[in-house]
Amino acid sequence: MQTTVFSSEQEIARTAGEIFCGFARRKPKAVFGFATGSTPLGVYSYMASEYRAGRVSFAQVKTFNLDEYCGLTKDDENSFFAFMQENLFSQTDIQAKNIHFLDGTAANYNAECRRYDAEIAAAGGLDIQLLGIGPNGHIGFNEPGKYFTEGSFKVKLSQSTIDANSVYFEGRDMPQYALTMGIGSIFRARKIILLALGEQKAQAVNEMLRGKITPRWPASILKLHDNVSIFLDEAAASLVRDIV
Ligand code: PGA
Repeated sequence: MQTTVFSSEQEIARTAGEIFCGFARRKPKAVFGFATGSTPLGVYSYMASEYRAGRVSFAQVKTFNLDEYCGLTKDDENSFFAFMQENLFSQTDIQAKNIHFLDGTAANYNAECRRYDAEIAAAGGLDIQLLGIGPNGHIGFNEPGKYFTEGSFKVKLSQSTIDANSVYFEGRDMPQYALTMGIGSIFRARKIILLALGEQKAQAVNEMLRGKITPRWPASILKLHDNVSIFLDEAAASLVRDIV
């Protein structure tokens, strides 16, 4: 893992955004793995501004998102699909036919997860996956547990995740379940960029970088991947300053 500490969130957004834009310029049919949450917003904003400036096209790029809440339709304002639509897809020339998502309203979640894994494989696998990290060390919605997961699956969200994300569900209960790519799905991406911003991520970053590899801190498995870049702000890096 290559870890870099940046002095501002903007610098992280520009650096990570430029990696995605560079990929699209060199390989127009690149396969991108995207994440939701507040952390990647600056990256998407950078990509959209590069597109508007005519410096990049995503017209042939394929996209796969990490996860989706169970029970929310695509047009539900709290769905991750709607988040991506608002913050990236509608702001660029990414084509609807190239957008891939887990369907949180599927009648058979197991079949839906197998369908998604097969689509990722048929696209040739993920060239690059963007990740945030939960305060509990989750990546995607791979919550702390007893074992590392393989392909996509239905997960019961942890209390930590519900506490962190319920702010987005003003006046309504947030879903307790989600569909998510598994650790194996994420791990098969040829390149991974993980971003962490803020003091509330410092412990998870510390466990990821120097703790033992354990499903209790899911991101710790990234130590075994040979092409991972970790971008941190000063607050997220506050417990690891002696090693990065
Ligand atoms: P956040 O979520 O970007 O909203 O902090 C990250 C995550 O839970 O993976």
